[in-house]
Amino acid sequence: MILVSGGAGKTGLTVIRALAAKGHMVRALVRREDQIERIEAAGARDWSVGDLRDETTLDRAVRDVRTIYHICPNVSPDEVEIGRRMIAAAQAAGIVHFVCHSVLHPQVEAMPHHWNKMRVEARLFESGLAYTILQPASYMQNILRGWQSIVEDGVYAIPYPPGTRLGIVDLEDVGAAACTVLTERSHAGATYELAGPEVLTQSEVADILGRQLGRPVRVVQVARDIWAGRARASGLGDYQIEALMKMFAYYERFGFWGNPRILTHLLGRAPNTLEMVVARTIQVRSEISDRPSS
Ligand SMILES: NC(=O)c1ccc[n+]([C@@H]2O[C@H](COP(=O)([O-])OP(=O)(O)OC[C@H]3O[C@@H](n4cnc5c(N)ncnc54)[C@H](OP(=O)(O)O)[C@@H]3O)[C@@H](O)[C@H]2O)c1
Repeated sequence: MILVSGGAGKTGLTVIRALAAKGHMVRALVRREDQIERIEAAGARDWSVGDLRDETTLDRAVRDVRTIYHICPNVSPDEVEIGRRMIAAAQAAGIVHFVCHSVLHPQVEAMPHHWNKMRVEARLFESGLAYTILQPASYMQNILRGWQSIVEDGVYAIPYPPGTRLGIVDLEDVGAAACTVLTERSHAGATYELAGPEVLTQSEVADILGRQLGRPVRVVQVARDIWAGRARASGLGDYQIEALMKMFAYYERFGFWGNPRILTHLLGRAPNTLEMVVARTIQVRSEISDRPSS
């Protein structure tokens, strides 16, 4: 049995789908009962409901589990403590393999949520557990948050300049790579960066969106204080906003990209390009909107 924490989030669901498609037994750790339907539809056979910060929940979740895929909720201020508790629960339960969903370049102190992941990685080195660390770049799927504005208004709105260079990765490829390291025995002790196949400016991203949608799409840079106000209104907390603002400033200054060769090796093929992912998204969304409503 493989435990996937953060199971009902976008990363968790993708990893569960990849594992279930290959017939592996998955238990998902979810926060609320109303998330069970979602993880069952993704293929999880079992679940554990509760708060990741609660030790009793963790002890219950890891029972009879061989392997853990640890996904910390996005931009958690107490990520190090959550990681420490999950590692302790794994040690107490005698887990065979602990796989940690980290991030590309966790050693960048200027991005606090990356830096926290590096500290969880360091704890794993010291844990005595057989571990594997995956370090994905930013997901191509982050673009989908603004999908409506892209499709309806031809506006790709971002809080950094059009020239910002990012090596974004398809989350489906991340899920497939996670499935490989979770189900093969040869990855203990490895740290793998999972970067996308191309480094694109945001103007190039807009061009790809426009080409695939068959309409002009332009980049609009949103001032960061306006972005922060919208994020606050949508319920994001101070820590999350501050961390993400620092990340945007870092992206603007240095870009954010890695090398795709390890991901290519894990997938046994080249990682998907943004062109492919946008085409797939358009196809999936048109199939959904063509379905007769019941
Ligand atoms: N987005 C990217 O581009 C990217 C790139 C590399 C790495 N990552 C990393 O990937 C990880 C997952 O990101 P994501 O975007 O997939 O996250 P997400 O969609 O926000 O999912 C997080 C899940 O965890 C659940 N959760 C939150 N607090 C919880 C708690 N206290 N106890 C139990 N469950 C809880 C959430 O439930 P609710 O819905 O109830 O909140 C949600 O189902 C993060 O650590 C992030 O840093 C992301």
